[in-house]
Amino acid sequence: MHFSEKSKAVSQSNNFDSSADPLTQRHGTVVTTTDRPEPYLRVENVYKQFGSFVALKQIYLDIYPGEFVCFLGPSGCGKTTLLRAICGLDPQTSGRVIQAGQDVSNLPPSKRDFGIVFQSYALFPNLTAAQNIAYGLENAGQPKSQIKARVQELLEKVGLGQIGQKYPAQMSGGQQQRVALARALAMSPGLLLLDEPLSALDAKVRVKLRTEIARIQKELGVTTVMVTHDQEEAMAIADRIVVMDNGYLAQVGTAYEIYQQPNSPFVADFIGVMNFIEGEVIAADQVRCGNAFLQVPRNDIPVGQKAVLAVRPEAVEVLDVADTNGHPNTSTAQVEGIEFLGSNYQLSLRITGTTEKPVLVEITAAEALKFDLSIHSSLNVQLPPETIRVFAADAV
Ligand SMILES: Nc1ncnc2c1ncn2[C@@H]1O[C@H](COP(=O)(O)OP(=O)(O)O)[C@@H](O)[C@H]1O
Ligand SMILES: [Mg+2]
Repeated sequence: MHFSEKSKAVSQSNNFDSSADPLTQRHGTVVTTTDRPEPYLRVENVYKQFGSFVALKQIYLDIYPGEFVCFLGPSGCGKTTLLRAICGLDPQTSGRVIQAGQDVSNLPPSKRDFGIVFQSYALFPNLTAAQNIAYGLENAGQPKSQIKARVQELLEKVGLGQIGQKYPAQMSGGQQQRVALARALAMSPGLLLLDEPLSALDAKVRVKLRTEIARIQKELGVTTVMVTHDQEEAMAIADRIVVMDNGYLAQVGTAYEIYQQPNSPFVADFIGVMNFIEGEVIAADQVRCGNAFLQVPRNDIPVGQKAVLAVRPEAVEVLDVADTNGHPNTSTAQVEGIEFLGSNYQLSLRITGTTEKPVLVEITAAEALKFDLSIHSSLNVQLPPETIRVFAADAV
């Protein structure tokens, strides 16, 4: 046994309190649970079936005015299906959609108030950028002079002030998607829907455009739902993330909440990198993993049950040999792999006394200088109890 057996009192203070969430401070407009206005969009007990296949199950979701919400999840989990149900392109089988206080569940898309951008740019190839953007305004019968000014304003908003006369084939993918965004915004919709708008673009363009979409969204204050399968994208720009799994909502929360307080092993695994360590519950705050007794946050999984501990790579502390005294959950570990990632090292460590697979540990390059990092070298590690999340093994 190599982990400390001392049953030191473990601090139960919640380090993951979302009031400390830097995102909340950054966006400023994020509404808190205690002070929420009426939702702009309410999805109420929505189901969607394709034949006998149930693609959406029991979806309840409130989206607040001006929020930027991302639907995130693996391919096929129902993100697009939910987006299409919200705007009526492919209505729900049962349940209701309420937008701006009105039950729109049975309205055709043409009677609803939204703009949409798809992954495939879906521009009219025979129309210029300006004509594409003007299309909806012309159909609505707006006066020509007004349309011209509005189109120019939109082109400038999406950073295309100079290229209104180009045709889609003469534009890059990123430019076409900017036109698609301007077109979706032309009628000043109450709801902006984006279905993987960046997925077809190069990595660099994708990052640049996502930042601009977030900026434009905040400038306009338009309530927005974006579908993505890219967790980094969702974390970067969403006020709240809706994680979906197999037709269900798995978790809804800020990026910070979803990352730090995943409510299931699925979410823990899907967002970021996570180590899972199996064990058996010994006490309300103790789990045995192999020969090691780990202090964990107090939980109500019954004693004797199998549990899974989830630990982020950056939560594992690498310590000097002399510095392990008094820390719970310390052990020696052998270095099995080293990856240099620029600002960080990702280490693969086998923790002594557990039969578990190696644990991934991330330390900064600066921190790494303090240690003898070579394959098979020994380090001391600590798993700070408050950073561990405990799940019943049957939840896996
Ligand atoms: N028109 C359809 N007919 C039958 N099955 C569909 C249809 N559209 C989607 N599905 C199925 O519903 C599930 C969810 O699809 P979708 O919402 O497109 O996933 P995502 O956007 O999350 O990748 C998938 O299993 C998909 O095959
Ligand atoms: Mg999709």
